Amino acid sequence: MRVRAVRRADLPAVIALDATVTGLHKADYWQRVYRRYGVAGQGLRHFLVAVAGRGGGGHGVCGFVIGEVRDWEFGSPPCGWVFAIDVDPRWRQRGVGTALLAAVRERFERVGVRKLRTMLARDNTLILSFFRSQGMTAGRLIPLELDIGTAAPHGPAP
Ligand SMILES: CC(C)(COP(=O)(O)OP(=O)(O)OC[C@H]1O[C@@H](n2cnc3c(N)ncnc32)[C@H](O)[C@@H]1OP(=O)(O)O)[C@@H](O)C(=O)NCCC(=O)NCCS
Repeated sequence: MRVRAVRRADLPAVIALDATVTGLHKADYWQRVYRRYGVAGQGLRHFLVAVAGRGGGGHGVCGFVIGEVRDWEFGSPPCGWVFAIDVDPRWRQRGVGTALLAAVRERFERVGVRKLRTMLARDNTLILSFFRSQGMTAGRLIPLELDIGTAAPHGPAP
């Protein structure tokens, strides 16, 4: 198994893998992600795949990770965000996720980043166990959210 930058030929395998995890076949979304993080990636944006065996033509894709260096967001010095990681269920618990995270971390470190961040659903204990195993702990930022578009804005009456 090795980790390398994504290629266009990998996309059907990435889309299928995402669909096994989310239940959604999001071809348009993945084309956009590929353009932004694959083609225009490298340096600060990374879309990496883990490939089993010889992996010709994208057939051997068994996992992927996407991450990006973001500068001064939320008042923080540049940090590396990991916003997607998935491993083919047939390949889990064999170190593929660890190898993908290590590869994106190494790329962040190469450009001087000293903080790795991610977000996860509170009830996703699998991904939480994985990130904890990699040494990640609760950070200093907390996410806030609001449902919008359904009610009048909160504020003084006109
Ligand atoms: C989380 C995920 C990426 C882990 O990938 P993986 O290749 O199985 O991970 P690794 O084999 O490198 O495991 C590393 C560590 O993670 C933890 N871990 C992995 N799978 C686990 C499981 N099923 N239960 C508990 N801990 C687990 C363990 O601590 C493991 O270390 P160990 O093997 O020494 O016990 C994979 O399970 C996955 O893709 N899950 C779905 C992801 C998802 O929900 N994505 C959407 C949000 S981005």
